[in-house]
Amino acid sequence: MSDKVIIFDTTLRDGEQCPGASMNLREKMEVARQLARLNVDVIEAGFPCISDGDFEAVRQIATEVRGPIIAGLARCVAGDIDAAGAAVKPAGERGRIHVFLATSKIHREHKLRKAHEEIVRLAVEGVRRAKSLVRDVEFSPEDASRTEPEFLAQVVQAAIEAGATTVNIPDTVGFAVPEQFGALIRYLRDNVKNIADAIISVHCHNDLGLAVANSLAAVQAGARQVEGTINGIGERAGNAALEEVVMALKTRGDYFGGVSTGVQTREILKSSRLIARMSGLFVPRSKAIVGENAFAHSSGIHQDGMLKNRTTYEIMEPQDVGWGDTELPLTKHSGRAAMVNRLAHLGHEHLSDAEVGDIFRRFKEIGDRKKFVYDDDLAALVEDATLGGGSDTFDLDYIHVTSGTTTVPTATVRLRRRGGNASGTNGDNAEETLQDSAPGNGAVDAAMKAIDRILGYQGHLVEYHVQAVTGGKDALGEVTLKVDFGEGKLLTGKGASTDVIEASARAYLNAVGRVAQKRRQSRAGDLGEASEEPLAAQTP
Ligand code: KIV
Ligand code: ZN
Repeated sequence: MSDKVIIFDTTLRDGEQCPGASMNLREKMEVARQLARLNVDVIEAGFPCISDGDFEAVRQIATEVRGPIIAGLARCVAGDIDAAGAAVKPAGERGRIHVFLATSKIHREHKLRKAHEEIVRLAVEGVRRAKSLVRDVEFSPEDASRTEPEFLAQVVQAAIEAGATTVNIPDTVGFAVPEQFGALIRYLRDNVKNIADAIISVHCHNDLGLAVANSLAAVQAGARQVEGTINGIGERAGNAALEEVVMALKTRGDYFGGVSTGVQTREILKSSRLIARMSGLFVPRSKAIVGENAFAHSSGIHQDGMLKNRTTYEIMEPQDVGWGDTELPLTKHSGRAAMVNRLAHLGHEHLSDAEVGDIFRRFKEIGDRKKFVYDDDLAALVEDATLGGGSDTFDLDYIHVTSGTTTVPTATVRLRRRGGNASGTNGDNAEETLQDSAPGNGAVDAAMKAIDRILGYQGHLVEYHVQAVTGGKDALGEVTLKVDFGEGKLLTGKGASTDVIEASARAYLNAVGRVAQKRRQSRAGDLGEASEEPLAAQTP
């Protein structure tokens, strides 16, 4: 059996299914490029049949991202499989179709209403159809951990016979416990005649907080592919956190018998932060490997031990997962070339000249307000400048807020159409800048209302989160908010500034850019260019 454990990242598919985590195309591309730098083996880029947006994201990732295998998910339904095949086609030999079909009694009887034989037939047909489109086919019997082991073995054997090269055993509802899950993998190895013709994979959810433990037990039992997400994001309580799986295998090689992954562990922290930003799902401080406190030692005894010998209280080198990798921060004296160089080092090599210009302007503004501009500050500025929504979005040109214990908070906001020029201030070029004022229930509310008045939206703030991007009193504050624009889905907005009210206005504007983009897309859909086919209860 191979010593290599294949790392299959489903941040862009199962992770993105997490409520409030949905990313736009540009964000997905950023994440996919970073996953390639992290050197995961497989990127599950999406569920192509679910919408035109998902299809396009998978297709673009398959076209542009080099290195990992690019997988698209499909039900055992001809239309799904064909869509996945078309979406991963640009990846050539690196394209994978991942077909799934539920096999447990509960799903068979209540969801699918199909008998055993019908399930086997559909699985075989699905795998065969996928095989006619790509060489690399993965099959998942959904809810495998609650499926009768004998029937599971029968379906897995049939799927391999039909051409599946990977058979994935999902613990779809996070029901398994490690010893039992490991035993299930052993059972399949012993009872599926052709099991040697496929890689055994596992896909564990975290409902009981056991996703990583179950994945590791499966590796011990012979699984050689682990599926999961960065930061463990995903449906409900999430998926197995890949950074934990990878570091457990690396740190406890003594126990796991020398298996290894190809992951560039120094890229872990950068990946975690990028995904937290892009998904709007923050990493708890005490989260293993990537939480702020993961390598912080505060008690006197621990600090004393650490000073004497690091290994007294540290089982991994923080640098191994990317902590302490930052170089000298930039200052307001740094030039455009130095900033571009730093951006490239951070993985932002695909910016247009206009975007670089925008970021450089904000960089100078921030440099005037704070002594050092750190990598995290820069990353926040990149997002601010690039993740708006489309060419007709607006930039914040100016904001003035009066507020206090005895005044009604009032905000005056001036917006500049993206692509316009800032010198066209109010009056002398009315097409490019728009200004209005509004009172509000607090300064943030007033700023949002002023933007609503200018652009004609009516957003209702549902969640508001602010965090310091770096340490220090002059740190950039990054605001993430979720807004209800009556679209049936909350839209996330993000913005950063040394001033929290300004950051809030930027974040709201970012959310407005997204709703504008969404409405444009659905208008295009009405005209026949795009359509969304809801999968409702069928989505795994
Ligand atoms: O949780 C699950 O069962 C899935 C499958 C599609 C692999 O996400
Ligand atoms: Zn899942």
